[in-house]
Amino acid sequence: MGISGQINVTVAPQDTMETDLTTFDPTDGRALRSAFGRFGTGVTVITTQTAQGPLGMTANSFSSISLDPPLVLWSAALRSKRHDAFAQAQQFCIHILGAGQQDLANHFAGQGHDFSGFEWVSGPDGAPQIKGCLAAFHCETFAIHPAGDHSMIVGEVKHASECPGEGAGLLFDQGRFGTFTPKT
Ligand SMILES: Cc1cc2nc3c(=O)[nH]c(=O)nc-3n(C[C@H](O)[C@H](O)[C@H](O)COP(=O)(O)O)c2cc1C
Repeated sequence: MGISGQINVTVAPQDTMETDLTTFDPTDGRALRSAFGRFGTGVTVITTQTAQGPLGMTANSFSSISLDPPLVLWSAALRSKRHDAFAQAQQFCIHILGAGQQDLANHFAGQGHDFSGFEWVSGPDGAPQIKGCLAAFHCETFAIHPAGDHSMIVGEVKHASECPGEGAGLLFDQGRFGTFTPKT
């Protein structure tokens, strides 16, 4: 009996790799991509202004980092034709997409320069802000960290806005778009 009245039980260690999961080689890109895809995320579109006009890219690598100072990050693939423009940008805008914005996500996954089908305005620091999203964070590039086949882009949020009301988010899980069903 321990001093707090609990029974102390010694658990024998089990064979380390005997789990209910199927082990795979993490250098197997296809398998790793699949396992990473088990982490469901929201969906964003990131925009910036370039000499060739506005540029957008769909990204689910977005994460909030810090409240003070307000910092966020996302990762851009080196192999993307849009990588260099975002890596060189001083300002960019992160849009959190709503449940009804799958077309926007597909559009900016496919290409980056055609904004003609969407209502947008030039934001306070020049980065395009697309209308109808759940939230928008206008960022100044704070740091860029090389990270394997991606660049981690950290932004300091300089201007932020959120839609009024509850609006559900667009989600991405195992390669599919969907929405969130709360447990009641
Ligand atoms: C849901 C979703 C999330 C994505 N997330 C990222 C991301 O975080 N980073 C990234 O570099 N590309 C991401 N992509 C891919 C880009 O949107 C784009 O398709 C890719 O960069 C192709 O680039 P390119 O046409 O400029 O070569 C995502 C695509 C989808 C559909």
